[in-house]
Amino acid sequence: MTGIKEVKFTDNALEVQFINGTSITYEDCWLRDHCRCSTCYHADTFQRAQHILDIPESKIVDVNSTESQVVLTWDDKHQSRYDSDFLIKFDYNSFKEGQRLKPVLWHGKAVNKKIARIPVEAFLNSKEGTVKAFQSLLDYGVVLIEGVPPTLEATEKVCIALGGVQHTIFGGMWQFTSKAVHADTAYTNLPLATHNDNTYFTEAAGLQILHCIEHSEGTGGETVLVDGFYGASRLKADFPQDYDFLTTFELEAEYIEEGHHHKYSAPVIQIDSKSKDVKQIRFNVYDRAPMAFSSSSECRSYYRSLKHLARYYQDPENQWQFKLQPGIVMAMDNFRVLHGRTGFTGKRVLCGSYVARSDWLDKARSLRLIQ
Ligand SMILES: [Fe+2]
Ligand SMILES: [Zn+2]
Repeated sequence: MTGIKEVKFTDNALEVQFINGTSITYEDCWLRDHCRCSTCYHADTFQRAQHILDIPESKIVDVNSTESQVVLTWDDKHQSRYDSDFLIKFDYNSFKEGQRLKPVLWHGKAVNKKIARIPVEAFLNSKEGTVKAFQSLLDYGVVLIEGVPPTLEATEKVCIALGGVQHTIFGGMWQFTSKAVHADTAYTNLPLATHNDNTYFTEAAGLQILHCIEHSEGTGGETVLVDGFYGASRLKADFPQDYDFLTTFELEAEYIEEGHHHKYSAPVIQIDSKSKDVKQIRFNVYDRAPMAFSSSSECRSYYRSLKHLARYYQDPENQWQFKLQPGIVMAMDNFRVLHGRTGFTGKRVLCGSYVARSDWLDKARSLRLIQ
């Protein structure tokens, strides 16, 4: 616990000095909005109880404090209490810092030794196994769950435990062979360069989960992964102009099949406006829509910067290539890690699903791995 040393109030704010040396100023509008009394806040649902327009614009008339609490009296006689543990959380810089994700960038096959491989029983039935899986997704964007029976049903249990099956036009849990059921190259036996899925959705899938449940009478079909954040960091260092372009220029992507036309525009590299951290890569050369440009320089910047970024993603030195065997369920962060595969022969049966980003982060947050 960090106790309160001293409080001061001015016309419209309260300054709190904590014993640990931190000093934070709270505006009166913030304080009234954050009153935790039962009129202002439902403690059982963690929701505010009043509409923002119904919160009075009042003035602080009195302050009492102890080491553990501040009690404010307002000019409409309302009283608000705030625990010191509650107040100290809202130091702006540490608040923002606490919410940052801290991905560990990787390149090449060495990541193979770092990511978690968790027996399915441990993943489904122990907190330790679950924590390890989500930590691996947060750190490296990849986790392998091993010993899964090669069936759709067993794979579904893993998908549910990772946050729940996300339904899209491709279904919920899906299973396919190389026989085309959608107008997409994924449903062929051709090689696929590394890419992110769903660049044409307003929100791309959070996790991509793949389980190769059969590959017989043939070769190839190796999985290729590359860290999209690492490529972006290289672009930033080597070609800062191109990095800036790809963080602002809205690239249009689309998906067309009978009865469907998805389309979405957004930067290829999405960054957090405050921290400048990369928060999403949407890189898919196949799903780019035909586009018009506002100027010749914009058009040329587009091709130059996209090719520069693509070179990192296509460089075998940066990629991790491996054969997914039946029994191994791979989950990867589609906002970060790009996936592809080598061409193949024979009968290859895959199953899996997507998990919405909100849903897997919900699991990670409930496990207290993120804020
Ligand atoms: Fe894909
Ligand atoms: Zn209140």
